[in-house]
Amino acid sequence: MDKTPQTLPRQSWTFSNEVNSEIRRAAATGIYDIRGGGAKRRVPHFDDLLFLGASISRYPLEGYRERCDTSVVLGTRFAKKPIELKIPVTIAGMSFGALSAHAKEALGRGATLAGTSTTTGDGGMTNEERGHSEKLVYQYLPSRYGMNPDDLRRADAIEVVVGQGAKPGGGGMLLGQKITERVAGMRDLPIGIDQRSACRHPDWTGPDDLEIKILELREITGWEKPIYVKIGGARPYYDTALAVKAGADVVVLDGMQGGTAATQDVFIENVGQPTLACIRPAVQALHDLGMHREVQLVVSGGIRSGADMAKALALGADAVAIGTAALVALGDNDPKWEEEYRKLGTTTGAYDDWHEGRDPAGITTQDPELMKRLDPVAAGRRLRNYLNVMTLECQTIARACGKSHVHNLEPEDLCALTMEAAAMARVPLAGTDWWPGKPGF
Ligand SMILES: Cc1cc2nc3c(=O)[nH]c(=O)nc-3n(C[C@H](O)[C@H](O)[C@H](O)COP(=O)(O)O)c2cc1C
Repeated sequence: MDKTPQTLPRQSWTFSNEVNSEIRRAAATGIYDIRGGGAKRRVPHFDDLLFLGASISRYPLEGYRERCDTSVVLGTRFAKKPIELKIPVTIAGMSFGALSAHAKEALGRGATLAGTSTTTGDGGMTNEERGHSEKLVYQYLPSRYGMNPDDLRRADAIEVVVGQGAKPGGGGMLLGQKITERVAGMRDLPIGIDQRSACRHPDWTGPDDLEIKILELREITGWEKPIYVKIGGARPYYDTALAVKAGADVVVLDGMQGGTAATQDVFIENVGQPTLACIRPAVQALHDLGMHREVQLVVSGGIRSGADMAKALALGADAVAIGTAALVALGDNDPKWEEEYRKLGTTTGAYDDWHEGRDPAGITTQDPELMKRLDPVAAGRRLRNYLNVMTLECQTIARACGKSHVHNLEPEDLCALTMEAAAMARVPLAGTDWWPGKPGF
């Protein structure tokens, strides 16, 4: 008998089964993969940072007796009516069309109950959403879908979308099966025909044009509403500086883990910088212009918890925004739909074919029967609960660091677990007082 020890056949790291399966899929269909969600690969993230907490050299605050404020005001630079939020987390722009009207309503309900704002998206403002959102930010997008001056005036703030973290430099997609009569009507599109949204604004080519556009929006809205500029995590230092120069009240910075309703997988996984790597350069740009805290910075892209929120604030953000986590709170990817996910060839936690409009949870769909599965009142309450938990978690950490306002968190409260995270966040590697690139080393 052969006694030679057996080794397992070797799989290639480069040509893994997953890679080969994608090559076979591309070869069989001749089309690239489209999906929703954010980057699935592991990149340095907030998990790679830790808070130090107080001991002798720092004095913690007592949870039950000492206040730790969470309020934030967005738009203090030029707007006559800045937005006052009770908590430093907002709901990011997600389009009606990608999401059902019930889902949009639920986002508005949840945000309002929690004392924060929600945002329209690449599909215009629905009445349900306006009606149930105490504070609603209206997106002004390259596609101009659903754009009209009346809705600009009905909004509480305006967000000029230059880019998204999932696809900086690219546009989105909405497939025909989701373009119902109502969606088509709001976007001025034919019913049932696939559409691709524009990657850049049709009437401007650079920062000077952006300045003119912002002035135009201010004139239309009587200089009342804060104007945000949303950028994808590409070149955060220069893009933030140029947004400020063009007159933004608020910069919204969306890193590469940021979700999307639908775009090419190759884009989601290969374009843009991790959220963690974007924050310090953006904050640096604000400092260099003397605008930190004068122009507020909202960070998004992979924010999941109060710890992520606290870390983003400690690195210099004024608030964070959530997309994917809000959808999960509403009921997206819930294990109770596992049998139906299986029928769609996927499983709980991996369901990302949001463009197909067959979402068992009734969120990323326009199918009237599936939509009915989402109760906007109950889903809004779940979102409110989740936002409350995030805020309590953030406060817990801030108090442990001795801070009476979450905005008093600072890089000095953090250390990094890896060299990469230390370099990106510019905080010391745990156990050292050094990070790669630290001046003087
Ligand atoms: C379903 C869905 C639809 C989205 N639609 C838009 C949109 O219309 N306009 C936009 O600027 N961003 C859109 N985004 C991106 C979000 O505004 C936000 O940048 C991103 O979701 C933040 O990352 P997170 O999902 O990890 O929280 C969408 C995201 C999702 C998940």
